[in-house]
Amino acid sequence: MNLDKIDIPFEPPLKEPARQYYFIEKCAQYVKAESERLGRPLFSAVKTFGCQMNAHDSERLRGILLQMGFEESENEASDFVLYNTCTVRDNANQKVYGHLGYLKTIKKKNPHMKIALCGCMMQEKAVIERIKNSYPFVDLIFGTHNVFKLAELLYNCLTKDSMVIDIWDSGDIAVEALPSKRKYSFKSGVNIMYGCNNFCSYCIVPYVRGRERSRMPGEILSEIEALACDGVKEVMLLGQNVNSYGKTLKEPVSFASLLRQVCQIPGVERIRFMTSHPKDLSDELIETMRDCPKVCRHLHLPLQSGSSRILNLMNRRYTKEQYLELAGRIQKAIPNISLTTDIIVGFPGETEEDFAETLDVVTRVRYDSAFTFIYSKRTGTPAAAMENQVPEAVVKERFDRLLCQVQKISSQVCMRYAGTVQKVLVECENDHQIGYVSGRLDNNLLVHFPGDASLVGKLVNVKLTEAKGFYYIGKMAENS
Ligand code: SAH
Ligand code: SF4
Ligand code: F3S
Repeated sequence: MNLDKIDIPFEPPLKEPARQYYFIEKCAQYVKAESERLGRPLFSAVKTFGCQMNAHDSERLRGILLQMGFEESENEASDFVLYNTCTVRDNANQKVYGHLGYLKTIKKKNPHMKIALCGCMMQEKAVIERIKNSYPFVDLIFGTHNVFKLAELLYNCLTKDSMVIDIWDSGDIAVEALPSKRKYSFKSGVNIMYGCNNFCSYCIVPYVRGRERSRMPGEILSEIEALACDGVKEVMLLGQNVNSYGKTLKEPVSFASLLRQVCQIPGVERIRFMTSHPKDLSDELIETMRDCPKVCRHLHLPLQSGSSRILNLMNRRYTKEQYLELAGRIQKAIPNISLTTDIIVGFPGETEEDFAETLDVVTRVRYDSAFTFIYSKRTGTPAAAMENQVPEAVVKERFDRLLCQVQKISSQVCMRYAGTVQKVLVECENDHQIGYVSGRLDNNLLVHFPGDASLVGKLVNVKLTEAKGFYYIGKMAENS
């Protein structure tokens, strides 16, 4: 099909987001014509790997595709398939290659299918080379800095036969004013900053997401106001290190001050944020969390290791003692706060003594939950070149011990609300039990209780009648 024959009576605008709306319209005409020809709708599937930031980008990608007239599908055998990739650990990459193998067989049966890849993995040159050489059936590749360009790139891809590749090394402009399709109507992520400057020695994120850039507070607040008007009750402020938010703005603003401004927005009832780096966590933030009831009593405070020696090699810029002191100060100021964390096992040179320090912090802090990861060597990071990589069997054995300790504590800590009445934001009807709905507490724990679809998106009081280890069964309280 010759898309240029489609009658849009002007040249593509140079300014964003007008330019992307122009290409959305162009693609929409293609989708319409193709579905008429085939006598069925065209389907698109976006599959997300990785963190909340990728999940949020995927909502924007879905919004653009919907606007073009694609119908959303979960099925990877769709007319347009897009993988939003992650590269933080090697297993994230391997999953993508595995899926691509599967897509190859589908595309053989449906040669009109278009396959696209975007996200963090695509910012690595070696990955692009491998895809060019071993997966030539991929049609479109773009990166983390030009997610907003999907419409233009898809249009290029439809009008060319060869693979379209567009990767930017950095991204000063982030075009946010484009359609988005939220997974939940009542909660949403909101980017407050992009990139990371911390260069933890094991981590690839700063290389694939670029330097730290904070959005202007006004822009963030108007986005949240619009979300609130659209029925959003819970927002999650997103950044790799939200505690350093605003430091590089012309008129610096602290994260705590941004948080207080978000609290003022009518309709927003719950505010979460991810992720906090312990080195930048201020007293002002602790006080804000303590004083603002809309801010969830939950703090994700990645530890990574309990050994000061390893923390130093990781370039984390705090010691075991400083971390413990900080965690203690937070728990004292905000009783009942849920602390959660990330821990890496098997960083190069980690000894049994170092690992024992990690177990010690876990035992002392008593996290509500912890994500535990086996160290993964990422090419190009300083840690990849370190000697003394720990043998796999040793890492695995430590990992199992850590998991055991984390779960033991977590099952005790999480259940401390048994018997109390708590606010729950209802997310969905329960898949397993008819007549039940599922929702989340302020600290993100799941609660299942009798109710129907009319409760979805509402904040209700629920008495937590049964503690099940990592979730609760409850009953709606009278005064909801
Ligand atoms: N910016 C966030 C984390 C982003 S990555 C922060 O600093 O907390 C999420 C988690 O993945 C990290 O906290 C870390 O625990 C883990 N991670 C990052 N690089 C890793 C690697 N090379 N191997 C194993 N785990 C890693
Ligand atoms: Fe990675 Fe460290 Fe930045 Fe988190 S703070 S994204 S772990 S470099
Ligand atoms: Fe992965 Fe990129 Fe997030 S590497 S963890 S998707 S920032």
